[in-house]
Amino acid sequence: MIDNFITLLLARIITLFPNYLSLLKKLEIGVFFFCWRCYLEARNLPSGYGMLDEKLKEQALSEYNHAQIFCQLTGSKLNMSGAGLMNREEKQAFNWSFVEWDSSNESYQADGMSTRYLSAKIFFGFRTANSYDWEDRLAFMCVLEDFQHCFYKQLLRFVPPEVQEKLAPIIEDELTHAINLHASLWFISGVRRSSNLLLIWHTRRYLALICIPFDALRFALGIL
Ligand SMILES: [Fe+2]
Ligand SMILES: [Fe+2]
Repeated sequence: MIDNFITLLLARIITLFPNYLSLLKKLEIGVFFFCWRCYLEARNLPSGYGMLDEKLKEQALSEYNHAQIFCQLTGSKLNMSGAGLMNREEKQAFNWSFVEWDSSNESYQADGMSTRYLSAKIFFGFRTANSYDWEDRLAFMCVLEDFQHCFYKQLLRFVPPEVQEKLAPIIEDELTHAINLHASLWFISGVRRSSNLLLIWHTRRYLALICIPFDALRFALGIL
């Protein structure tokens, strides 16, 4: 209930910015890179993690599609294909997430989002997202996907029909991501520990939301 109200408010505010689709594009490509890196790491996990690598790869591809859809809606297109982005050498990891959108001449460092926004810093406790272990990662990813699903649902009310049409399947995808992550967390941590972790990350999310207006102001001023 409270989440519906918060996301409704956020959706209203964000659509006041003419370049809100560009922000969503950046967020989606950031999620893609995070999932892809997690997939690369998860390939070395023991069998007790239940094919987590394949699940993360599947989510990464889905997030890439979301970024591509928002790109198309903003009239640009990612320079590289999903396969091209994914095949970047791991040894070039320092700048592998530097993205150029071809038609707008805009480039973007899609990495390090957990330390760029004040709200993200609060959420991640002034640590980087990938400094957490697998249990915490799955818990915060689940909380964020759940929130994103809720946010996009409210966003539908404020966007033009051509965006609504593209957004509808993305909303379904975000719900699927949240459900799959929840299932993986249960599998790895058990029901009780999962509930505790989710409670911690839901609480952090509320603390982070308090800082959103500050980030929105910086975005409006072109600082972010
Ligand atoms: Fe997404
Ligand atoms: Fe997602």
